[in-house]
Amino acid sequence: MKKDILDRADIALLVKNFYDYVRKNEQIGYIFNDVAKVDWDNHLPIMFDFWENVLFHTGSYTRNPIRVHSDLNVLTPLRREHFAEWLRLWHGTVNELYEGPNAERIKQRASSIATVMQVNIFDGGISGPRMS
Ligand code: HEM
Repeated sequence: MKKDILDRADIALLVKNFYDYVRKNEQIGYIFNDVAKVDWDNHLPIMFDFWENVLFHTGSYTRNPIRVHSDLNVLTPLRREHFAEWLRLWHGTVNELYEGPNAERIKQRASSIATVMQVNIFDGGISGPRMS
């Protein structure tokens, strides 16, 4: 039986494995490699903070990911299929490494955050589409 996600080291392993898949992925890899040209030494610790805060409420992440992704959507159009692929890789990486309540929670939270990002990008945010 696999273990559950219990601490920052477990999150770090998950996040590193996930972005290894992302970088090599045919559908979304270019967004990270060629469009955003992600500085991984900088990005990975931010992601450890983000997910640690999501699971364990550490207060370690106080930035605005919704804004980051709507800015990204200006650089290159994001599509619903990109989010679906991102989530497929996230869920797959979690399932490969862990099982338990926190593993379930980190997948569920990713899905709901992805929904909020898509509402923001495709539907004009919670106030709905602009009519003019
Ligand atoms: C189409 C799907 C997605 C794409 C292409 C994408 C791409 C990116 C890129 C290029 C960055 C900037 C990295 C950098 O240069 O530092 C970023 C940052 C980030 N992404 Fe995503 N992302 C996606 C979905 C998601 C989802 C679903 C989540 C959360 C569940 C997420 C969470 C984050 C966070 C927390 C950051 C850091 C923002 C910051 O700088 O504080 N992303 N993403």
